[in-house]
Amino acid sequence: KKIELFRQQLLNWYDTQGRANLPWRKNHEPYRVLVSEIMLQQTQVDTVLPYFERFMSTLPTVKDLADADEDVVLKLWEGLGYYSRARHLQKAAQFLTYECNGVWPTTAKDLQQLPGVGPYTAAAIASISFNEVVPAVDGNMFRVFSRLLKIDDDIARPKTRQVFYDAILPIVDPVRPGDFNQAIMDLGSSYMTAKNPDSEHSPVKDFNQAYLDDVEMNYPVKSKK
Ligand code: ADE
Repeated sequence: KKIELFRQQLLNWYDTQGRANLPWRKNHEPYRVLVSEIMLQQTQVDTVLPYFERFMSTLPTVKDLADADEDVVLKLWEGLGYYSRARHLQKAAQFLTYECNGVWPTTAKDLQQLPGVGPYTAAAIASISFNEVVPAVDGNMFRVFSRLLKIDDDIARPKTRQVFYDAILPIVDPVRPGDFNQAIMDLGSSYMTAKNPDSEHSPVKDFNQAYLDDVEMNYPVKSKK
């Protein structure tokens, strides 16, 4: 059936052409995923790469981050900007180490207790590290699924996140939710970009209703604020 075929084509493409070599994809340790997702919140993949490697070799475990001098953490962040991310990240590590005794919350709902971790980051960690079947709804997801499903809701409205969440939830691969979410990220940065999509060659071309109807560039719908 249609959803199964979509998952199959998406994940097959991800397995063969996806960015499997990204350093935070080498294993699914939640600490690696947390650090990478926080860095990737406002910063491009190519910029994040050297920062991520340096951060992980300097502070390889949650406890190392929890116990580090704040100056060391901020120094590792220098150049990435949005320094409150670094402070929140360290607070999250302290919470995990000293309030949770090193035992991670495993659901998106519970992961949102961590400082600096909102619905998107929580869903990314829960799906990638703990196999929870949840969509990680960010700007990429809005763009990709608004086009695939022709969702006309204004993404500038806070309520729209729930509309996308509800629409995507039944589509997320039940066996490989983390890979599903990361495959959508890769799709959003290759064939389904904001300005220059190449849907003709996309692995999920047949499922892209906006493309099939020749209205792809009308999506996502976003009012200016
Ligand atoms: N952007 C946000 N999270 C990402 C991830 N896990 N892989 C690639 N790009 C991302």
